Amino acid sequence: MGVRIHEVAVRAGVSVATASRALSGQRGVRAENRDRVLAAARELDYEPNAVAAALRSRVTHTIGMIVPRISNPFFATLVEAVEGRLQDGRRSLLLAGSHYDPEVERQQVRSLLDRRVDALVAVPCHQHHSTETIGNAAERVPVTQLDLRVDGFHGDWVGVDNEAGVFQVVDHLAALGAHSLAFVGSHPSDSSAQARLDGYERAAARHAHHSGPVLLGDFSKEWGRQAAEKLMDSEGLPDAVVCGNDTIALGVLAALIERGVRVPEEVMVTGFDDIPYAELSRPALTTVRQPQERLAAEAVRLLTSVMEGEQRPPQRIAVAPDLLVRGSTKR
Ligand code: RIB
Repeated sequence: MGVRIHEVAVRAGVSVATASRALSGQRGVRAENRDRVLAAARELDYEPNAVAAALRSRVTHTIGMIVPRISNPFFATLVEAVEGRLQDGRRSLLLAGSHYDPEVERQQVRSLLDRRVDALVAVPCHQHHSTETIGNAAERVPVTQLDLRVDGFHGDWVGVDNEAGVFQVVDHLAALGAHSLAFVGSHPSDSSAQARLDGYERAAARHAHHSGPVLLGDFSKEWGRQAAEKLMDSEGLPDAVVCGNDTIALGVLAALIERGVRVPEEVMVTGFDDIPYAELSRPALTTVRQPQERLAAEAVRLLTSVMEGEQRPPQRIAVAPDLLVRGSTKR
């Protein structure tokens, strides 16, 4: 165990309160006492306790981050990218998950703030029901929204242009001759699910496709499987299934292949995100790549600028995504 302030006080011949005031540079300590305390601290190699120092200075060099689902590889990669950007030797990350539940999110954010994080990177799980939580947090610390954002809060946000990503997918499928499409996505409770659904409807209408069934559940492989079963059993298989994210698409692919449906010959399948497993599926998944390193870098840059006191209007940065064409659509 390291040297405690009590030992410094004893060596300097002063009370612990005087030693503490002298070490934290407060006024009201006689010059000779301060000199004795500083000399004792040097001789004993005293290192102030980080938590106690943080309580005094109110700066913890800790950034909070909340994401909807830690186990989704998209968010796991995003967290790692943010953490990498913070590793300038001074700041560390405190992570929490909301499980797509605005009430859990509210409690988790409060708990991060109670632990005195200096700032918050938030991926809010609901476009409406998370607004109050984000607004309240922003009254206490700088907040940057990453990937998802809420309605009715004018703060910094960085994410991809979701609609543009879905347009790229639909254009690609149309160029390959797909006439009938189905969309398997998440209920539009969060801003990305909403933008991808809107983008799909607009893009399909632009190509005068029968946009076909729109099936909405959540961002999980289980939902992907279930939706594919539904398409095979009752809706009828379209030329292509456009999925709201990669985990849904991997569930769709698995269910189709298990039933002997040939991908891409009979049905093409696309995802969104480019999680690490997307290229490992067979066939490998055509998907929209979100540049997560860039998203994380922009988010940390915005957050840092506010923490350093820069006065500027809130920024919204929509980064262009890329379409990665792989075996699930190549004919
Ligand atoms: O995979 C989870 C999805 O939810 C991602 O596409 C991300 O953009 C999000 O909001």
